[in-house]
Amino acid sequence: MNNLKIDSIAVVDFGSQYAHLIANRIRRLNVHSEIVLPETSLEEFKKFKGIILSGGPQSVYEKGAPTIDKRIFELGVPVLCICYGHQLAAYLLGGKVVAGKAKEYGLAELQIIEKSKKNCGIFSAFSQKTQVWMSHGDTVGALAPGFLKVGTTDDCEFAAAVNPEKKIYTTQFHLEVNHTPEGMKVLDAFIVQTGVARTWSMKQFLERKMSEVKEQIGSRSVFMLTSGGVDSTVAYVLLSKALGTKRVYGLFVDTGLLRKDEAKKTEKLLKRIGIKNFHVHNGRREFLKNLKGITDPEEKRAIIGKTFLDIQAAVTKKMKLNPKEWMLGQGTIYPDTIESKGTKHADKIKTHHNRVPEIMKMIEEGRVIEPIAELYKDEVRALGTEMGLPKEAVWKHPFPGPGLGVRILCSNGDDVLPNEYMVHEELINEYLEPLGLSGVIAPIRSVGVGGDSRSYKNPLIIWASGNKHSYNSNRSNKSQNISMEELEKLSTYITNHFPVVNRVCLLLAPHGIEQVAARSGYLSDARIAHTQKLDNIVMKFAEKNKIMDDVWQFPSVLVPLSINGVKKDAVVLRPICSDEAMTAHFYKMSYPRLSKLTKLLTSSVSGVLFDITNKPPGTIEWE
Ligand code: XMP
Repeated sequence: MNNLKIDSIAVVDFGSQYAHLIANRIRRLNVHSEIVLPETSLEEFKKFKGIILSGGPQSVYEKGAPTIDKRIFELGVPVLCICYGHQLAAYLLGGKVVAGKAKEYGLAELQIIEKSKKNCGIFSAFSQKTQVWMSHGDTVGALAPGFLKVGTTDDCEFAAAVNPEKKIYTTQFHLEVNHTPEGMKVLDAFIVQTGVARTWSMKQFLERKMSEVKEQIGSRSVFMLTSGGVDSTVAYVLLSKALGTKRVYGLFVDTGLLRKDEAKKTEKLLKRIGIKNFHVHNGRREFLKNLKGITDPEEKRAIIGKTFLDIQAAVTKKMKLNPKEWMLGQGTIYPDTIESKGTKHADKIKTHHNRVPEIMKMIEEGRVIEPIAELYKDEVRALGTEMGLPKEAVWKHPFPGPGLGVRILCSNGDDVLPNEYMVHEELINEYLEPLGLSGVIAPIRSVGVGGDSRSYKNPLIIWASGNKHSYNSNRSNKSQNISMEELEKLSTYITNHFPVVNRVCLLLAPHGIEQVAARSGYLSDARIAHTQKLDNIVMKFAEKNKIMDDVWQFPSVLVPLSINGVKKDAVVLRPICSDEAMTAHFYKMSYPRLSKLTKLLTSSVSGVLFDITNKPPGTIEWE
């Protein structure tokens, strides 16, 4: 924790999924920042060179919604207010907040309308027209006195506003995400305006962490849970560097929910980078037994997290480790915490396996060490590189702790459809049909995120009905294909305007759907083997076609959907581009490639779907 002897920016956490992302962006600009709660006193706020108010899941009118001492706007330091912060500033300073016409998630075009550069202040770093990323329900209906409207979008009149005299900048959109490409320029301009010193570096972080770790551990040793993934490997190496390899003992649990041959590959990689002090436990039977018959995603996640811990407890018991002499080490990174409702005002998106109640209890008891818990993946990679780790350890695709457990959707075979099914007719008749498309709401649900809250809704499957468009690369006239950019706009429009669905998938095979039904399917040896086989085909294809470096992750998801009477599961292709997994867009794979890959998959499935949903409103994984 910064004792504020060094220059710092305060990031006020109203529970946004993105509050720590703002801190990450500030660090990228080599500036120290500190996450603070809205309840922080005015005296404390006076110590900062600038203040940024984050987004948050609530409405300013909600009972108990977080607020802030409005005297922070009079401190004379620049204040930047994002999303909920934008609404709160308007509300506290005499403007008006109203419910938005439509909940808006995704891309929008910002138009700067204020001509005076001086009035625009830090927003003059924006081009006159630029892409921005929205994720909100409420919106500002009238600005507070002293504020000027600087930028608008089609759906949001007051998208960017300024009080030039007091140096208060507010935006409805998220400046901090990659999908606002000019956001960093504006944050940089904010940093310049605050006059804060640029003193943060990864080298310095590493030195600070190593001494913190030594202090926290004292004379104890670390029992490190490792998965071979980037985060746990980097955390493991950092701990070994700080404490010496003998005081860090690793446990690698093969859950049986890993990719094909992944356990063997992981063991090899860990040994190659000098991690030899570890034990491999084959937990396949335990995981399968505990997950038998479970269909609810959160229940699955809780069971997987608990099984990890039971195994760890059994191994420590066998090794006769005294809890007083050992701490549990984890490679938790920031998004694991925030998506699991890890901060005071955040909403729960999904419980990551390293945030189950049993672990939370151990954290409270001071028995867990998580050296990289405040970092994002891009920073973990930079830290790994700083410590000299090879590319294949640092740039490996992320793979979730619960593994295929969250990529194999389970169902008791009952169709689950939204109550407002009539929307379906409106969607098809009025919106899809004129575009030459057909669609059906699939009778299963997946997890998504929007406006900082979790959603659990149905996906919409669309396909070309043949008149206008085709997605089939074999057609001679390729220009008839709907472009990936159009598909992206379409999926954003649909999820914004028909909130009964949180995902849109393009049907790659068969050519159309006459009938779709949920089929019974749980976590079983057969379904795991099936997913591993499909995933292996997809991974090999991605490697051969050099897609691996272009994507952040390429999950294949097994979904219990029988299509046109074929009594088999269907598969969803989910290639995704991202920087830190808080926002992501689907990878725009070319039609010829999609068609080739589909042909490799069709024989063992009822259908092949291509997920064309960005995050938000979808999440990367389906559960
Ligand atoms: P979502 O699906 O929330 O995922 O968009 C964001 C990133 O986190 C990974 N993920 C997990 N990683 N434990 C992990 O270590 C988990 O429980 C977990 N769930 C999701 C996901 O693969 C993506 O990279």
